[in-house]
Amino acid sequence: MCGIIGITGSDDTVAALLDGLALLEYRGYDSAGIAIVEPSNTIFRMRAAEQGGSLYHLANGLSKEKAGSLNHTAGIGHTRWATHGAPTVTNAHPHVDCTSALAVVHNGIIENHNRLAQELKSRGHTFSSETDTEVIAHLAEEQIAGGKSVKDAVIALLTILRGAFALALVHRDSPDTIYAARRTSPLIIGSESGVGLLASDVAAMIDKTRNLFELGDDQVAEIRPEEFKVYDHLGVEMQPKPIRVGWSTEAARKGGFPDYMSKEIHEQPTALSETILGRLEASGATYLEELEIEDSRLAAIERVLLVACGSSYHAALAGRHAIEAWAKIPAEVDIASEMRYRAMQIPANTLVVAISQSGETTDTYHAMRQARSQGVITLAVTNVVGSLMTREADGVLYTRAGPEIGVASTKCHIAQLALLQCLALRLADLKGTLSDAEKSAVATEILALPALVEQTLASHEQFRKVAERYAESRDFYYLGRRLGFPVALEGALKLKELAYVRAEAYPAGEMKHGPISLIEPGSVVVVVAKRSSLWEKIMANVEEMRARGATVIAVSDEGDEETASLVDDVLETPPVTEVCSPVIGVLPLQVFAYTVAKAKGHDVDRPRNLAKVVTVE
Ligand code: M6R
Repeated sequence: MCGIIGITGSDDTVAALLDGLALLEYRGYDSAGIAIVEPSNTIFRMRAAEQGGSLYHLANGLSKEKAGSLNHTAGIGHTRWATHGAPTVTNAHPHVDCTSALAVVHNGIIENHNRLAQELKSRGHTFSSETDTEVIAHLAEEQIAGGKSVKDAVIALLTILRGAFALALVHRDSPDTIYAARRTSPLIIGSESGVGLLASDVAAMIDKTRNLFELGDDQVAEIRPEEFKVYDHLGVEMQPKPIRVGWSTEAARKGGFPDYMSKEIHEQPTALSETILGRLEASGATYLEELEIEDSRLAAIERVLLVACGSSYHAALAGRHAIEAWAKIPAEVDIASEMRYRAMQIPANTLVVAISQSGETTDTYHAMRQARSQGVITLAVTNVVGSLMTREADGVLYTRAGPEIGVASTKCHIAQLALLQCLALRLADLKGTLSDAEKSAVATEILALPALVEQTLASHEQFRKVAERYAESRDFYYLGRRLGFPVALEGALKLKELAYVRAEAYPAGEMKHGPISLIEPGSVVVVVAKRSSLWEKIMANVEEMRARGATVIAVSDEGDEETASLVDDVLETPPVTEVCSPVIGVLPLQVFAYTVAKAKGHDVDRPRNLAKVVTVE
């Protein structure tokens, strides 16, 4: 978690750091802070930790004290998602050493920080925070006191620190230089016209430069206005790997919507068409060469194991059905945080697909790595170019949804669903399990999805009106069967994370095995009741709920009066075949959760206790 930024050589270091932090806030917002080397060779530091407004408070403080007064010198900034230590000002980054000669920002977790801190304290260092990060400042201080240059001190840290880190450090004796290092946590560096930069992700840098490079594991960068140099853990100079990105700066901003979430909900038709663009033809032909896994290896796949967390896990559950239905090979789904701690026995010829919007979720990353260590083929499905998982997987497929800033996943979830369908069709093609006519029918339906999503979102107002009637309800049950179940799970997750309301999702047939005891007058049941061969069974389950006093809202097909007559409210969506139905079915549930959350006055982009990128276990 956490976002870090660094800039040197800018005309206005303060403004540049604040701009970057605003773009990184989705990674955490418990506190924000910056440190800049002043021309007088002292470190200026300012930090703020205010619920819902750390960056705002920091910017306010800075505008009074420092606006425009610092230029060309090196500065670093941090936006925090608290792990070690409460979200307070004293725990806010940057952290300094005993003499305030240097300041450091960090994303990740230093696993051996307890032992290191004890040793440092016994050698006379004074700590002022509860964070794991502060050991980095004191360790660097010791290395420099022992005669090392700042760069060599940072290189030495690589052998002392255990765990995950992306860190940036400034020292008062090198006013124009930022030192950076990384292991596992992401860090991008770049430069443009006499300005050197670093950030946790490309979205925070692309308005300043597209000359971007990835700092590798256990590498150190020395960034100056005119140049940067990269070294390995032995101090040998390396060539960093360039990164190519197609995102526009505007794509990373709100674009006229009141919040990122509504912007991203309405970007879903584009996200979808971009994701399938050039990958699929109406004939059923698929083009996934970017995968870089040879067709012969893919054709030999005998089973698929999909692994993910949260909304990505729900996409995996839907993707499994497409793989089984079209490629006719067994497909299983596992929650990454569970899978990584099982004694996994993955048969040879399994394709392990790790799905992650961010490409950095620690649980998914480690589950994928563990699978890879068993010799099976791994594929990362992610939205973030150059993210952690893409660097370790055998193959990568990018959802091309553009940056997703809202913490609740919307457009990336939809893009994942479509991309998994393309993959399923590719496997079916290689396996020869569908006739040409069947492939074409499926492809035609996938290609029609962007327009159908647009059509569905045009009913936004209808969804909103229904949702407003339930803004005060407290107990929600989301039910679905087969492909309706992942939709129910996703709808319930959206309501929980945004509206802070209890919302349980169950396969509808499972209610009678226990959860039905919970149903009473006042319970609200949201049922995914789009037409499929299981529609009658689902409606029988609905009757059981209504008989016990529940109010029922159905996600139904447009014009389906029979369903409408059997429930209290409907969220009507265009009819679509069952395999493609999760893409359409989830849309009214996104709007439903958004509306209830807004009615309660919640910040939908930054729900409490959550962060966009989950890099802790
Ligand atoms: O980046 P990832 O797709 O790996 O993230 C997985 C989950 O943390 C994420 O989907 C989370 O559940 C979202 N808040 C859902 O809206």
